[in-house]
Amino acid sequence: MEPTPPQTSLQGVFDLFESRGHLVDPGDGVCQLEHALQSAALAREECCPDALLAASLLHDVGHMLEGIGGERHEAVGAAWLSRCFPEEVTEPIRLHTDAKRYLLTKAPAYADALGEASVESLKFQGGLMTAEELERFEQSPHHEAAIRLRKIDDRAKDPAAGPPRIESWRMLLARLASA
Ligand SMILES: [Fe+2]
Repeated sequence: MEPTPPQTSLQGVFDLFESRGHLVDPGDGVCQLEHALQSAALAREECCPDALLAASLLHDVGHMLEGIGGERHEAVGAAWLSRCFPEEVTEPIRLHTDAKRYLLTKAPAYADALGEASVESLKFQGGLMTAEELERFEQSPHHEAAIRLRKIDDRAKDPAAGPPRIESWRMLLARLASA
């Protein structure tokens, strides 16, 4: 049986990376911890605000909570984090799969920036967006942050990146966390 996920708290986030950060999504080719740290490092290079730095680091916690291959990792992760982090962190995370659907609908050439697995997973993520879905997505005050996060996510899969150090992000997360 899978062990119970840690409680939502700042320490719970670190415990989750400690216990499940080694999990590898075959489509990404890097482990969850490496993917998270590469995402956060790219967001820092782009001078993203603190909430988006945290969102970049934490955007795939759902994969560690429900297991690789789960089909609702963005919702699972955002719901778990929302007990501890503000919506400026959790909403871009909740929307980052929809951001892929949005980009593919608006600009099909975006598929060139995606890995094969990411295009493949679109099938169970709802496919291209309808006009109504596009409008609803654009109405979210967090949709631009979600698009930015999505593009960072797509690039954070470098197997040759440097050694991961999650502790360096503790102070930033502590400033944003309420538990
Ligand atoms: Fe990701």
